[in-house]
Amino acid sequence: MTGITSLGVYLPAYRLDRDEIVKVWTGRSTGGTKAVAGYDEDSVTMAVAAVRECMQGSVEDAEGLYFASTTAPYQEKQSAAIIASVVAQPDPDETARNAKLIEDTGKVVMFEINVSCPMPADQSCVGFLMGNDPESCHRQVKVLKKSLSLPVGIKLTPTTHNMVPMAQAAESAGADFLTIGNSVRSFAGVDVKTGLPKLAAYGGYSGPAIKPITQRHVSEVARAVKTPISACGGVTTWEDVVEYMMLGATTVQVCTSIMWQGYGHFQALLKGLEDYMDAEKLESLDQIRGKTLPHITTIEEVAKRPPLVSRVAPERCTNLKRGGCKLCGKVCFYGAIEFSPRLKLIPENCDGCNLCVEICPVGALSLVPAQKKG
Ligand SMILES: Cc1cc2nc3c(=O)[nH]c(=O)nc-3n(C[C@H](O)[C@H](O)[C@H](O)COP(=O)(O)O)c2cc1C
Ligand code: SF4
Ligand code: SF4
Repeated sequence: MTGITSLGVYLPAYRLDRDEIVKVWTGRSTGGTKAVAGYDEDSVTMAVAAVRECMQGSVEDAEGLYFASTTAPYQEKQSAAIIASVVAQPDPDETARNAKLIEDTGKVVMFEINVSCPMPADQSCVGFLMGNDPESCHRQVKVLKKSLSLPVGIKLTPTTHNMVPMAQAAESAGADFLTIGNSVRSFAGVDVKTGLPKLAAYGGYSGPAIKPITQRHVSEVARAVKTPISACGGVTTWEDVVEYMMLGATTVQVCTSIMWQGYGHFQALLKGLEDYMDAEKLESLDQIRGKTLPHITTIEEVAKRPPLVSRVAPERCTNLKRGGCKLCGKVCFYGAIEFSPRLKLIPENCDGCNLCVEICPVGALSLVPAQKKG
């Protein structure tokens, strides 16, 4: 049984018409300003609501008719672009058969094959387990590309130590885009009174906490493939969108923060993006796409660089101005911050760990190259 399952919604691709959206997904060089202009919140809502409704049924329930009937009103009212996210079956022919039923409704603009559901039991080769097997990813994409006329992408799992082989396998099979990624397979916790699990099975962890995990994968994959990437993991602010673009993403998807804050949150994200593009005088997001990638290196290379130590801007530090705040002292485990009685930094003890910089509420601390002795 296959449902239409992704709750992820697409930014900025969802605001484009069919021809444009296909361009965005199939080429890195479109999307930018055009995507930011002409936003219509209703079309987002429609697209998401349609996908949500489709989740309630299965394609097989009514041979694709359920899908067609639930999405049609949205499409007639708006030109909402719907991307069908289809759970991959172990036999790719079955995935293709289900996807073909959807394609034949004429209601979707492209497909995302989900090989990344975090919930399956360890012994079944579905969900994130399939998404850890490059050969399976290759086979799924190959068969779907052969069976369908619409673009086909694949939604990969962050529950892996290295996503690159799966991304490369999907690319070599002709994937039109890579979604990176799904939620992280996790455990929801224990009720300390009863000792019972809060959820009796493993599930997916999503939202801001997974952004660093997804960013790691996006940046590693972006340097290894040419296929457009749709980043999905913890996008909550417009800055998150920009970060993912700078790490090489072509579009981003948002799920948890929309669930928390409602569909209106898109407007805040888009307004932030527009203001940012104006302030930075950007014509297109292409101008920043991948900007960060050349600056990412290995920890071994970083270790060869001159050491950094913390420095305080006295005019900002509230402790130096009037006493009180001692927050940075609480996080320094290297004995590099003293209060005697006012803040005093001891550079020779500083490890350059950056914790004090992160915690200072007024941005008074920064890391600078250590002064050479002598
Ligand atoms: C309640 C819930 C249900 C989800 N269901 C699906 C699903 O059926 N299929 C899928 O591909 N992803 C599903 N996801 C994953 C999201 O589409 C998204 O990949 C993930 O949550 C990471 O993005 P986020 O941090 O913006 O939420 C679900 C997420 C949540 C929170
Ligand atoms: S950078 Fe780390 S070691 Fe240095 S002062 Fe700050 S917290 Fe202490
Ligand atoms: S956290 Fe910032 S403001 Fe507070 S004492 Fe440290 S440097 Fe000063």
